[in-house]
Amino acid sequence: MDLTGIYKVFGLTGKCAGCTVLKNGNINKTYKVDFEENGKNVSYIIQSINTYVFRNPEYIMSNIRGVTAHIASKLPPEKRERGVLHFLDSRDGKNYFVDGDGSFWRAYVFVPDSVTYDTFDDPALLESAGAAFGRFQLQLSDYDASTLFEIIPGFHDTKKRYEKLTETIERDPAGRVSSVGPEIEFLKKYRGMAETLVNMLEKGELPLRVTHNDTKGNNILFDKNTKNTLAVIDLDTVMPGLVAYDYGDAIRFGANRSDEDEPDTSKTGLDMVKFEAFTKGFVEMIRDTATKAELETLSLGAITMTLELAVRFLDDYLDGDKYFKLNYPEHNLVRTRCQIALAADMISKKDQMDEIIARYAGN
Ligand SMILES: Nc1ncnc2c1ncn2[C@@H]1O[C@H](COP(=O)(O)OP(=O)(O)OP(=O)(O)O)[C@@H](O)[C@H]1O
Ligand SMILES: [Mg+2]
Repeated sequence: MDLTGIYKVFGLTGKCAGCTVLKNGNINKTYKVDFEENGKNVSYIIQSINTYVFRNPEYIMSNIRGVTAHIASKLPPEKRERGVLHFLDSRDGKNYFVDGDGSFWRAYVFVPDSVTYDTFDDPALLESAGAAFGRFQLQLSDYDASTLFEIIPGFHDTKKRYEKLTETIERDPAGRVSSVGPEIEFLKKYRGMAETLVNMLEKGELPLRVTHNDTKGNNILFDKNTKNTLAVIDLDTVMPGLVAYDYGDAIRFGANRSDEDEPDTSKTGLDMVKFEAFTKGFVEMIRDTATKAELETLSLGAITMTLELAVRFLDDYLDGDKYFKLNYPEHNLVRTRCQIALAADMISKKDQMDEIIARYAGN
């Protein structure tokens, strides 16, 4: 279906004043369309996504509906417009539309005067990012996460991830096992640690929460003028999980001294200034709704997310590089070593991390 048809499907009957293509990939086309509605300019993001690649879109959109409505109900009226994503309902009452060609469409409000950042070198900005993801947790702390669809089953099931690696090591399909002895040994040594969170969840020692699962800084909208955070975006991977996953992955990604595929691992490590900045923002938001066990396992979340990714990179390397996209032949091995270096540094700094977390938790 063409865009004009899609406007009608989503009830956009005003005058279209412009349309820009934001992204034109094979899988995904994203447009920004500007409308004049009752004398006001309102813009929307319209996406069409190939349903072959975008599996279970109805589950994703069901999660988004529940979570965005819940967040909106927590916002004061003056913040409701820009404090959460607003997806439009189509003529059949769903927040998406599948056209005759099988293309999946959705439309949501473009937040005016907003920016995203790709780098967070300023600790104050990182603290704001921590606060934004912490607020997301706070707003959803009373949401029954078990009602959400698990979009990627077993995404952070570290036990399964380790089992898969073990099985790949046994098969050694690419004949690479003999070259990665120290890496295998390191990951095996910390297997018990990496499986602790999953075990605690199974035993009911940690509550199931709504998690975002892509807690990167560029998934936060900031106000262009005030630099205040507005909303957490990119909600396609919202799922049930643990608060330590979201926090941990943000730290893994955002508080590393190096890129996540730095070949010189002496440059890799946990930047404690960045760690503290993000932690302050995050923990101050969640401290009243988080359980004691949740606060005490945040540092373990960072270590777990890092070990888990090392396991996934190594597994893919040993399997002959089938999953992750490579920029050069040994890329997966370099990534593995970088995550291992980061995990090792985090493990050596765990007491320091816990002390900082406890301080902002008010203990
Ligand atoms: N509702 C919105 N209002 C304003 N800007 C937005 C909105 N949603 C997304 N953006 C902008 O588009 C960018 C990409 O959006 P999003 O994070 O949802 O997609 P993505 O799948 O991560 O895409 P990419 O791979 O390009 O990051 C954001 O970083 C932000 O700059
Ligand atoms: Mg994004």
